[in-house]
Amino acid sequence: MYDFTPTPGQTKPALYADLIDAARAITHDEPDGVANMANCAALLGQFLPDLNWAGFYRMVGGELVLGPFVGKPACIRIALGQGVCGTAAASGETQLVPDVHAFPGHIACDAASRSELVVPVVREGAVIAVIDLDSPLPARFDSEDAAGIETLAKVLAERI
Ligand code: SME
Repeated sequence: MYDFTPTPGQTKPALYADLIDAARAITHDEPDGVANMANCAALLGQFLPDLNWAGFYRMVGGELVLGPFVGKPACIRIALGQGVCGTAAASGETQLVPDVHAFPGHIACDAASRSELVVPVVREGAVIAVIDLDSPLPARFDSEDAAGIETLAKVLAERI
């Protein structure tokens, strides 16, 4: 049994440090990328409050394909440049979206989503996946969330 429990009341940087420690521990020595993404999606759902979706899209054959996640069933394939995920994958840049309704081309997989954070996972200069977080709260994510998920993406680049 794994028991990674966030400490109540901790600061966001401390919460992300614990989340990343847990992600390192649970993916350590495990070569299967799907298993590692699945456990990390579960950790994201467990550690981060006010999310309605957290998970991965993987770059497969030049488009994004749904990977392990927690949340409602989601759209399966996203073209590069489409939506928040496809924009992150095409640009290689984190997308911090305080209001998804104001993002041109946002793809609504869950009508409850109001804000979104998408971070590319880059290996050897190429985007291999994105980490996608959705929240029902407007402006749920800030630069500390982006920094935390970017660190997680670096850790996972060699493990998924
Ligand atoms: N909203 C995303 C689609 C994926 S879902 O949020 C899970 C987008 O615009 O790319």
